[in-house]
Amino acid sequence: MATASTIILGTGSYAPARILTNADLAKMVDTSDEWIRTRSGIRERHIAAPGEATSDLAVAAARAALADAKLQPKDIDLLIVATVTPDQPLPAASCAIQHKLGIPTHAACFDLNAACSGFVYALDTASAMLASGRYRHALVIGAEKLSAITNWKDRTTCVLFGDGAGAVVLGVSHEPGVGLLGTKLGAYGDSADLLCIPRGGSSNPATAESIAAGDHFIQMKGKEVFKIAVRAMEEAARDILEQQGLHADQIALVIPHQANLRIIESISQYLELPMERFYVNLERYGNTSSASIPIALDEARRAGRIKRGDITLLVAFGAGLTYGAALVRW
Ligand code: COA
Repeated sequence: MATASTIILGTGSYAPARILTNADLAKMVDTSDEWIRTRSGIRERHIAAPGEATSDLAVAAARAALADAKLQPKDIDLLIVATVTPDQPLPAASCAIQHKLGIPTHAACFDLNAACSGFVYALDTASAMLASGRYRHALVIGAEKLSAITNWKDRTTCVLFGDGAGAVVLGVSHEPGVGLLGTKLGAYGDSADLLCIPRGGSSNPATAESIAAGDHFIQMKGKEVFKIAVRAMEEAARDILEQQGLHADQIALVIPHQANLRIIESISQYLELPMERFYVNLERYGNTSSASIPIALDEARRAGRIKRGDITLLVAFGAGLTYGAALVRW
């Protein structure tokens, strides 16, 4: 019998109703539609309603993925939620999501924080757990309410982020050569300070002063992060292709983390793969961190951009600084 591999049985995504355009942002901070579009490619982003939490976005995406997979919450025995914006610091968002969806109490539920690479990390983790033979169906969600940790007075970051969620249902197949072919994960912990929330954790609990200074919001040295992101995503893509003995030309579609159009264009040049082979939706969502790849994956599938037999490359980069790549054959 062929060895078991992890396959994607269904995908789903959700974005909150409210749309914040670049023109809206130009009324809030000293910026312009032109600056945001030319520097990042972003035109608008979705913003959750005040009472809408990350778990609400996740549940909507998960329901769509379960329906696509023709499975019920009772079929799930592993739930991994990639997020940097859980509903509360404690407990994990996955437990709220389990409860809201009605996933059984025997299911393992936990959150995973690898920032914008979180979905690829979660995919790899779920795949390893499924390969152990102790789980049958995994629900992997990337969900973020970044608007809750964005400093809306900081024009260098607030124009970049958005809210949303994407989900996949995973199962096991014995058909040779399909599913998750391989993954490559890594991190540059020495550059963690370039993209972080400085206060509010155990090393630096929040104080009234730190909150007044906005140190409980995301801070980023964009230019430095940009350079490392390009290099790390290019290397991760090259490594995973080499690992699987594949050439870039065999990739039908690349689903990159949606942070900046210029980063994606640079990867396209490096891999010598035309931009038509890259799925890009950041103009409508901004950077939704761990939700960006599963949202794009779901949209690409529903738009008919992924066909049976196609090889898809997922490639991510985020705070940590983490990176990850995964190859999937459908
Ligand atoms: N509107 C107008 N001007 C702005 C601005 C805004 N929203 N934000 C910054 N500026 C200004 C800066 O103050 C700077 O002015 P100065 O030259 O007078 O100092 C100028 O625009 C250029 O800023 P800079 O930061 O050098 O721009 P950039 O070309 O590097 O683009 C980013 C900025 C953030 C779009 C880009 O660096 C980026 O995308 N970085 C990586 C982001 C990323 O991928 N993060 C997530 C990883 S998961």
